[in-house]
Amino acid sequence: MHTPLSPETEAVHGNSASPLPTLDLVAPIHMTSTFRFQDVDHGAGLFDGSREGYVYSRMANPTVDLLQEKLARLEGAEDAVATASGMAAIAAVVMSLLKPGENLVAAATLYGGTFALFNTHLKRWGIAVRFLPAACFGDPAAITAAIDSETRLVFIETPANPTLDVVDIALWAGIARQHGLPLIVDNTFASPLLQRPLALGAEAVVHSATKYLGGHGDIIGGIVAGSRKLTERIRENYTHLFGPCLSPFNAWLVLRGIKTLALRMRRHSESAMAIAQWLAGYPKIERVYYPGLESHPGHAIARRQMKAFGGMIAFEITGGLTAGKQMMNRLRLCTLAVSLGDCETLIQHPASMTHATYSPAERQAAGISDGLIRLSVGLEAPEDIIADLEQAMARG
Ligand SMILES: Cc1ncc(COP(=O)(O)O)c(C=O)c1O
Repeated sequence: MHTPLSPETEAVHGNSASPLPTLDLVAPIHMTSTFRFQDVDHGAGLFDGSREGYVYSRMANPTVDLLQEKLARLEGAEDAVATASGMAAIAAVVMSLLKPGENLVAAATLYGGTFALFNTHLKRWGIAVRFLPAACFGDPAAITAAIDSETRLVFIETPANPTLDVVDIALWAGIARQHGLPLIVDNTFASPLLQRPLALGAEAVVHSATKYLGGHGDIIGGIVAGSRKLTERIRENYTHLFGPCLSPFNAWLVLRGIKTLALRMRRHSESAMAIAQWLAGYPKIERVYYPGLESHPGHAIARRQMKAFGGMIAFEITGGLTAGKQMMNRLRLCTLAVSLGDCETLIQHPASMTHATYSPAERQAAGISDGLIRLSVGLEAPEDIIADLEQAMARG
């Protein structure tokens, strides 16, 4: 059972105390690939399941277990599976729930890697994907029409990468449930501190732990949190034998990152709001996409399903892509790089970078314009970020 600690406290305390007799404050890193057996019968018992214990770190490792437990508690899930990357977490879900001839329904606005996995690789395995265009994310009839007797799962990302579209989790979960299907939510942009999709009816969440969970831009990792039925299926059908396990060292770094997650998400959200408001009033900005702005079409849903609006902003500037490129090349503080959720503010151009996996027509259906710029607001003073953006645009 989960302890009734608030998520902020759970993130700091939770399960991280050391079990060692030395009573370390912080649990150690179990950097071992294998575990010794006391004798042959002990080893055989671990293999046939009659004994409990660790065998080999591709299957299970105590440090990785701590992270899995922590995420399960934060997401309100029964269990979690840590993976080598966010993409491995998504692959684990789709590869263990789908087989040739079946299909999945997904909202079309996704991280470019997820889109490519669904659009290219699943097709090669004979699994069809029905992408719902951004214009239909709030349309129950369109969502329902995309589901048929061979649909096995429904997948959304919210807020969506890179447009910050807000997808109504309860609406999609309700429709999925009516059809007996699991809704999987990529919760990377929000983190469990801002949004808990399972409480809104989702079956599971996936995360790129590379982002806010890790928080310091120094690891690649992923996690799936959901029902035990699902995590057992993922372990059996995918992770144990395909082998995308998370290194214990990276698990430990994510556990360390999670201790400051609540503080960081508050700071990211407050700074992003200040920067989004400034951008919205700046003459050279055509459009700002930030769920915290009342002008954002998903603002009301975001208020309902998120605790704060997060650190991600997208915007378009006057002069389109040419002006946008000029501006990004002139930045001195904001770093031109993909990824997000780090301490440093990162900026990038989705159409030519993270979302280059979409064709122009596919980008249009997903609402990703050629001039769109994505900003991951870091932990710096927001006035310094604003000053940097202003100097880069003022000279244009
Ligand atoms: C929303 C989202 N999901 C999943 C991923 C993939 O995660 P990873 O890069 O850790 O494989 C990313 C990466 O940018 C992402 O932004």
